[in-house]
Amino acid sequence: MSGGRPGLTREPPVATTAVDARPLPRPPLRRQPGYLRRLLADPQPVLDELRERYGPIVGLGAGPMRIAVVGDPHAMHEIFTMSTDSFRWGHKFNVLGFVVGSQSMIVSDGADHKRRRRSVQAAFSRRRLNGWIPMIVERTDAAIDRLTPSLVDGPRQVDLYPVGRAIVLDVVVRSLFGERMAERCDEIGRRFQGPQDYLEAPAIRQVPHRLPFTARARARADRQALDRIVDAEMAERRAHPTGDPLDVLEALVVGGDLSDAEIRDQVVTLLGAGYNTTAATLAWMLWRAALSPTLWALLRAEADAVYGSVGSGSPPDETTLAALDLADRVMRETTRLHPAGAISPREAAVDLVIGGHRIPEGTLVLWSAHLAGRDAGAWVDPLAFDPGRFVDPTPEQGALADIAWVPFGRGARNCIGFALAQMELTLIVARLAQRLDVRPVSDDIPRPVGMVVSRPSGGAPMRVSLRA
Ligand code: HEM
Repeated sequence: MSGGRPGLTREPPVATTAVDARPLPRPPLRRQPGYLRRLLADPQPVLDELRERYGPIVGLGAGPMRIAVVGDPHAMHEIFTMSTDSFRWGHKFNVLGFVVGSQSMIVSDGADHKRRRRSVQAAFSRRRLNGWIPMIVERTDAAIDRLTPSLVDGPRQVDLYPVGRAIVLDVVVRSLFGERMAERCDEIGRRFQGPQDYLEAPAIRQVPHRLPFTARARARADRQALDRIVDAEMAERRAHPTGDPLDVLEALVVGGDLSDAEIRDQVVTLLGAGYNTTAATLAWMLWRAALSPTLWALLRAEADAVYGSVGSGSPPDETTLAALDLADRVMRETTRLHPAGAISPREAAVDLVIGGHRIPEGTLVLWSAHLAGRDAGAWVDPLAFDPGRFVDPTPEQGALADIAWVPFGRGARNCIGFALAQMELTLIVARLAQRLDVRPVSDDIPRPVGMVVSRPSGGAPMRVSLRA
């Protein structure tokens, strides 16, 4: 075990009044535009550099674009435990609203947010989540079966990133819309490409306009096509309810208190938030697990013991998931080092004190799961990939890890899909290790790309063969 180092606990910052709070440390004025530009294009290297040079809480920008980067786990804990009224999510810099819709919970505040989140939360009940377990393993098997004919003659180089994306999309569409929509997975996946390209376009190209043939125009067209799909499905659910207990859309249409426009925005939000994030994390997890043949063999041994032989035995359930202990720790360690969102934004709705620093109202607060996951005060040898660090931590180590492991956020605005994502990643990696021999084509972990969702550049090219 190598969790947080004993004796390394830092006292949480104590300044809680504006009087004894300090201004934010900042780079020299002339360097700030460069930092801002790089932060909004390729965040990880800039976050590391700012942390190294100016500390874990840094101010950038001026006037209408004031930013506070918060990478200190204790300060992040303060953010997560403050009243949600201290922040705004529907702020002027939030470009997500264009893609997910103005009534999405992700860009809502106050009572609207609570009501929209509550309705969706009810649909993500533990019973429904557990009901998805056999489907997740079955969809992983289906993807492996599709690969099999190309592998019968021996190992082949395969990019496992698109393979994983297809599994995740398959799972998310089936869980949101039930089995009936499964054959439209490819179409739904294509409709998410436009929005993803738009969100990753340089900030200047995201400025609102109605010009045709642009990333914004393509994102708008894709969103309209997704709306038509969801509208048709809502009408169908009303006319002919399927009674499928695992179908989230039916739960929202039949049992919820949201308007059709609100349901549409929540469904597109769930698809958007649940697809690219989980698929990117799966790619990082495959890199990390497959780089070590020993770890891959241990994952396989665990999967053999827990799943039993492929195609036999009883269907997997929540006890199967609970028994995949190593796969779960590989998931936790991967998300510590490669959180899908390196930074997550919220705007200060009032003057605040965070980590002992004054944060004026209107500042965009970017808390960073990337910096917390690599914080040297919270983790021993933070850059080492070591799933063993989560085994039997001392109470002190456990407490430090608890506040510094935040890939899914914390508190009232945490990730609503965290249990689904964790379940998918654990079950899928275990099944892939059980059925395939996989070695990355390079020994070097790729650099991350993507401003909104961090994924490995170049995907996950691996030498793959059927299990010997
Ligand atoms: C590895 C996969 C995922 C990661 C790393 C991730 C991470 C996050 C993070 C960091 C937040 C923001 C928390 C904040 O701003 O304070 C968030 C919010 C959210 N996530 Fe996820 N997420 C993942 C998968 C999913 C899935 C599978 C779904 C649903 C199917 C989902 C739905 C959402 C929604 C709806 C919100 C907004 C919650 C709110 O505003 O109340 N996410 N996620």
